[in-house]
Amino acid sequence: MTTPSKLKYTVPGMSDTDAERVVTLLQSRLNASNDLHLTLKHVHWNVVGPHFISVHEMLDPQVDAVRGFADDLAERIATLGGSPVGTPGKLVEARTWEEYSLGRATTQEHLGALDLVYQGVISDYRDGIKELDELDLVTQDMFIAQTEQLELFHWFIRAHLEDKGGNLSTTGASSEKDAAAAAGEG
Ligand SMILES: [Fe+2]
Repeated sequence: MTTPSKLKYTVPGMSDTDAERVVTLLQSRLNASNDLHLTLKHVHWNVVGPHFISVHEMLDPQVDAVRGFADDLAERIATLGGSPVGTPGKLVEARTWEEYSLGRATTQEHLGALDLVYQGVISDYRDGIKELDELDLVTQDMFIAQTEQLELFHWFIRAHLEDKGGNLSTTGASSEKDAAAAAGEG
């Protein structure tokens, strides 16, 4: 993860040490949001099959919302006296997850893989929310609002993977490929 350079100033009432940690948490979510909106657009372009149009069109509002999250996170970093890092090379250097692995594939396969993508992103947001409890409730509020939206989008994905008994076809899958294969059979 990119370590923030020393802050020259921060918001009133916050210690420099706390601000530096908050900036690091924000940068991690900025990387995740930038990666996610690009990945969602990639899926938007690569889905095929009989449910193409509904999935293709479902994804664009998610792309727009997640791009908005990135903007809010980056501007919060600047507000705290930090310098947001938004270039692609630095994102790839800093990220702790693998590149999205599917190219052209059926809607079900992509939705299965996206179930795992959202699981990763949301789990890290929730870890951030817990840590921010002690550090900065203002940034925590932003994380909570974004998590609520991400969990809603995750449900949109999962509703396609669910049978009428409420079972997800991707349960137990630990990689995008496995999740895509499980969802493709469903
Ligand atoms: Fe498009």
